[in-house]
Amino acid sequence: MPSLIDRYDPLDPEVLRNPYPVLAELRLSEPVFWHEGMGSWTLTRYADCVRVLRDHATFARDARRTGGTVPEPSLSVQTLDPPQQSQIRSLFMTALRAQDLTGLEERACHLARERLGELAGAGAFDVMAEIAVPLSVAVVSDLLGVEAPPYEEFAAVSDAIMRSMDGGLNPTLVEPGRVARQQLSDLVDYWFTASSRPGLLTQVRQAVSPDSDALARLYVKNTARVVFQGGYSTMAAAVGNAVQTLLGHPGALEQMRNPALLATGVDELVRFDGPVQGTTRIAVRSCRIGDAVIEAGQKVIPLFAAANHDPAAFSRVDELVLDRSPNRHLGYGWGPHSCIGTTVAQAGLRALVAALNDHPARLTAAGDSVRRRTATMRAFDTLPVLLG
Ligand code: HEM
Repeated sequence: MPSLIDRYDPLDPEVLRNPYPVLAELRLSEPVFWHEGMGSWTLTRYADCVRVLRDHATFARDARRTGGTVPEPSLSVQTLDPPQQSQIRSLFMTALRAQDLTGLEERACHLARERLGELAGAGAFDVMAEIAVPLSVAVVSDLLGVEAPPYEEFAAVSDAIMRSMDGGLNPTLVEPGRVARQQLSDLVDYWFTASSRPGLLTQVRQAVSPDSDALARLYVKNTARVVFQGGYSTMAAAVGNAVQTLLGHPGALEQMRNPALLATGVDELVRFDGPVQGTTRIAVRSCRIGDAVIEAGQKVIPLFAAANHDPAAFSRVDELVLDRSPNRHLGYGWGPHSCIGTTVAQAGLRALVAALNDHPARLTAAGDSVRRRTATMRAFDTLPVLLG
């Protein structure tokens, strides 16, 4: 009988359906293990994941620090490490804090209410295509201050980029991801010159005049693309996962009419079944994690999904505890690469939940949902429901 590790396949339909039992077994039997398929050390304990995410001196995001290469279009806040990354990260964080997120949340709620109004009583519909995609495109476009691109076209480009995150498991996904990234870069280039609406883009653009150094301009543009695409794809996946969790927990939506539970509840939804299952770092020097000796140059995957259900860090790990506080989950990452858009994502999720609560009819499942065959991002391809 092959060992549990050999049997662990993140793309196995049963694991895609519910990854938490196998991750719990792995955490107990082999908390730090080498996964041949992913060519990486895999971490399932909360404390080990936090250690790696914090210690950017030992665990690099930037592959160039261990002799690898990073193509120019990928150089952004996400692929650079401190100290190079710090300036660009703080530019975007400062610009984001200056945005009117209350207004953004109100507009998102208005859009979600409108969508629900159109969909109510019209038979089964797919939450992903009809709510998650339009809501998420609208939220990130609103944040950046750009005209929302056509949903379906943009969703296809974004999906190719999202799927390329699994390039380690399936190298054929890398090239379509590169092409899609270029298409999106062209759109961001256009926005950079053409868009004059107030928003995050106008603000960061002011920080890089035409005579600033070429590298600074490149980092800013690439980061704007990451904010747009990464923000959209994780937000859309989070919306689907949140709806599915709410469908499986009768009464939870109703409880979130209470503003305090709405605030803590949207974080708990991300801990309970968040969209980003893990991330990758590369060991800069040899070190030890638990009993494992990690060699310089080897990849390490902190599995957020496993860490967020670690009983050493959370009580009642497999329950949805809407008033969980504090809730230091890793659904938004941790440390110098933690999510820049956390407050935006929280606003978007609150808007969704509030709109669902405002609607007189209740959502019910309407047939089999289909999980996307991706390991890094936990998302639905389709999630059929009925309203009314
Ligand atoms: C519920 C929705 C979201 C979730 C669960 C989420 C989760 C995450 C996670 C786990 C990371 C860290 C990845 C790592 O360490 O490698 C991350 C990074 C990032 N997120 Fe989000 N995100 C969400 C929405 C957004 C939104 C709406 C935006 C933008 C408006 C955004 C922008 C970013 C950026 C730019 C980074 C890279 C930060 C860096 O590397 O310094 N995210 N996100």
